[in-house]
Amino acid sequence: MHKLEKRAWAEPFKIKVVEPLRMTTREYRERALEEAGYNTFLLRSRDVYIDLLTDSGTNAMSDNQWAGMMLGDEAYAGSENYYHLEDKVRQYYGYKYLVPTHQGRGAEHLISQILIKPGDFVPGNMYFTTTRLHQELAGGTFVDVIIDEAHDPESLHPFKGNLDLGKLESLIQRVGANRISYVTAAATVNMAGGQPISMQNLRELRQLTAKHGIRVVLDATRAIENAWFIKQREAGYESHSMPDILLEMCSYTDACTMSGKKDLLVNIGGFLALNDTGIFEEARNLVVVYEGLHTYGGLAGRDLEAMARGIEEAVQEDHIRARVGQVEYVGERLLSIGIPIVVPIGGHAVFLDAKRFLPQIDQLQFPAQVLAAELYLESGIRTMERGIVSAGRDKVTGENVMPKLELVRLTFPRRVYTQAHCDVVTEAVEAVYDRRKKVRGLRMVYEPKYLRFFQTRFERL
Ligand code: F0G
Repeated sequence: MHKLEKRAWAEPFKIKVVEPLRMTTREYRERALEEAGYNTFLLRSRDVYIDLLTDSGTNAMSDNQWAGMMLGDEAYAGSENYYHLEDKVRQYYGYKYLVPTHQGRGAEHLISQILIKPGDFVPGNMYFTTTRLHQELAGGTFVDVIIDEAHDPESLHPFKGNLDLGKLESLIQRVGANRISYVTAAATVNMAGGQPISMQNLRELRQLTAKHGIRVVLDATRAIENAWFIKQREAGYESHSMPDILLEMCSYTDACTMSGKKDLLVNIGGFLALNDTGIFEEARNLVVVYEGLHTYGGLAGRDLEAMARGIEEAVQEDHIRARVGQVEYVGERLLSIGIPIVVPIGGHAVFLDAKRFLPQIDQLQFPAQVLAAELYLESGIRTMERGIVSAGRDKVTGENVMPKLELVRLTFPRRVYTQAHCDVVTEAVEAVYDRRKKVRGLRMVYEPKYLRFFQTRFERL
């Protein structure tokens, strides 16, 4: 028997341009990490060997996208590239109106300002850092209505991104539909480990919210990866095309916020897309204040073009199979050597479960932050904490939010690293696992007010 199964995700491209990587010594990394306050966000990229900090804006563009960059129409108003992107968003996501933004949080800002009244509630399937902050800055209170399985790193539920409609219904009963600005449905759920939402759940969400006149806003940042999981896991969708699945997902929602820096294979860009004419007019007006004119939204014409071309490439099955396949390859190798990770393996990243990896470290000594630091020390690999530091403080009590999930994210940029790089990564994780009992906690020595994980500094205990 050949092991052809394992190779099915081979990259549907070859490499035309390369960027050298830089290797460092352990002593060098020890110093770099101390200077960065044990926060991987504060490392200089030149000191990193394999960068798995994020899949955001770190993708490799295709020759076709680069060629499109030369066709940037840099007019202040009415750029050709805007109309191209509008066509592609209509074709693949199905919304009527497009408002480009510099990235996802620009779109989150606009929709939050328009739809949230102070005192409102905004339920969602687990939080994302910037999404929740914009909801809070607009005076809203985020309420987590994801299914319980999402908070359990060992649950094998195939759609751990699903909303718990019972939780949503009791929130509606408790506060009244008119105090719910909208429901956020994220596809896939980043903080849960890149876990998808099912089509059935989206359909039922639509039915419930329609009954109460509540809007649904899709976080479409990784909706194409979600569509792939629906095709793989949901009965009845095996032979649907990726574009059909994506369109059906969007059809159950009223609007989407989008970070093009993920699914859409670009380095910068995002948008708000929606169907309601009144809200569109408000958004098109507000974008001028915060981002730029409504036909460029803080982007250059060439960026709009790269994103329009990125949509076409992102929905190709060969692409998405290799993209998710690479992540699964790493996850399966780690599982095979007994490393505790979130299962099922997510779409954009493998998440190490720091609570099981470093059980001797109390959550208030930041086990996931520690583990991210140790991985860097070990091999120059940069990862990201997704635990108590990312969760931040309660907006009323000021206390640390203590999330059930204390994770380190090994995030894979699209089309960037090879299978050999993947092997280096698993070897580094294994090496840290072998010496895990000697690892100590951290203490916070500086903490900024907003999105603290980006800039917090730590010292070794
Ligand atoms: N929604 C989700 C699910 C995201 O993962 C992100 C960004 C955003 C919204 C905001 O988009 O960065 O373009 O403003 N996630 C990045 C990450 C930063 O590393 O996961 P943005």
